[in-house]
Amino acid sequence: MRVLGIETSCDETAAAVVERDDQGHGHILSNVVLSQIDEHAPYGGVVPEIAARAHVEVLDRLIGQALHEAQITLDDVDAVAATAGPGLIGGLIVGLMTGKAIAMASQKPFYAINHLEGHALTPRLTDRIDFPYLLLLVSGGHTQMVLVKGLGDYERLGTTIDDALGEAFDKTAKLLGLPYPGGPEVEKAALLGDPSRFTLPRPLKGEERLDFSFSGLKTAVRQLATALEPLSQIDVNDICAAFQTAVADTLDDRVSRSLQRFRASFPDVKKPALVVAGGVAANKVLRDGLQRLCSDNGFRFIAPPMALCTDNAAMIAWAGAERAGLTPADSLDVAPRSRWPL
Ligand code: KG4
Ligand code: ZN
Repeated sequence: MRVLGIETSCDETAAAVVERDDQGHGHILSNVVLSQIDEHAPYGGVVPEIAARAHVEVLDRLIGQALHEAQITLDDVDAVAATAGPGLIGGLIVGLMTGKAIAMASQKPFYAINHLEGHALTPRLTDRIDFPYLLLLVSGGHTQMVLVKGLGDYERLGTTIDDALGEAFDKTAKLLGLPYPGGPEVEKAALLGDPSRFTLPRPLKGEERLDFSFSGLKTAVRQLATALEPLSQIDVNDICAAFQTAVADTLDDRVSRSLQRFRASFPDVKKPALVVAGGVAANKVLRDGLQRLCSDNGFRFIAPPMALCTDNAAMIAWAGAERAGLTPADSLDVAPRSRWPL
């Protein structure tokens, strides 16, 4: 079973072909991603209109490239899967309509995929892990702790009540005059800074609920930066170090509670797993902290390769491949949804 996947929900245009073999294992035949970062960088964030136009301009070519790299033609594809939400509506329309058109013209089944389900199922493609497991999704648009119980069976344990974590990194970077995307810049500056010079808040730390909150942290950075004006490079480094430490500490608190919750729900699972996904998972300090937390609590820590942690179409194709044969294909009437909780 070979599935062509299409992803256009944010600022990456992506197409991929994934094969699922008779044992149910996945193989990536091609995975093409074109990032629009350069087009959005002058604005310090993703501009929806620019994103939608950029998807239109390159998607056809990327699909052709994905088929070419997989050394197949459309005839060799068994199903088409495209992201239908959540995300920026203009981009979603481009990818969903393209996917439907290809499915209709080639008379293949079509799967409208929830982008979050794509992230949630990725470790089954990369690490062939079994249900159930925990997923921490931390990207520019999402911050969620999800209990992945089975295909189509997801329970959101917690989410952000304000900014996504990547967004908090990006906004902090912008406040400090660092370029977009801010995550890697903040991480670099933090390496050179003194984390003990400033103490920033740890939002929701100690609370029973498993939600996240980051806007208070960003506001504290703004107040600190204003008080210190004009900022020296040392100030910037020290603020970044304080910010990253506060984030690591907050994640530690929220995630350790989630691990306990998992244990309580699934006492029979011998070696449970925590999977991280999303661009923020590239952060080494945060990753190391999560890894430590997992080993202290008897959890496996799974971080798929970065190219499959950030937005891509292989995860969308794989979600389609997992669904094919188990759930009916979607109707071509399906509409894009900018909001679509798992
Ligand atoms: O999953 P992703 O590539 O795409 C979307 O959210 O669309 O995530 C991008 C986010 C950005 O906010 C970026 O600043 C953040 O991930 N990010 C990082 C790092 N690398 C990327 N955040 C913290 N540390 C990093 N090293
Ligand atoms: Zn994503």
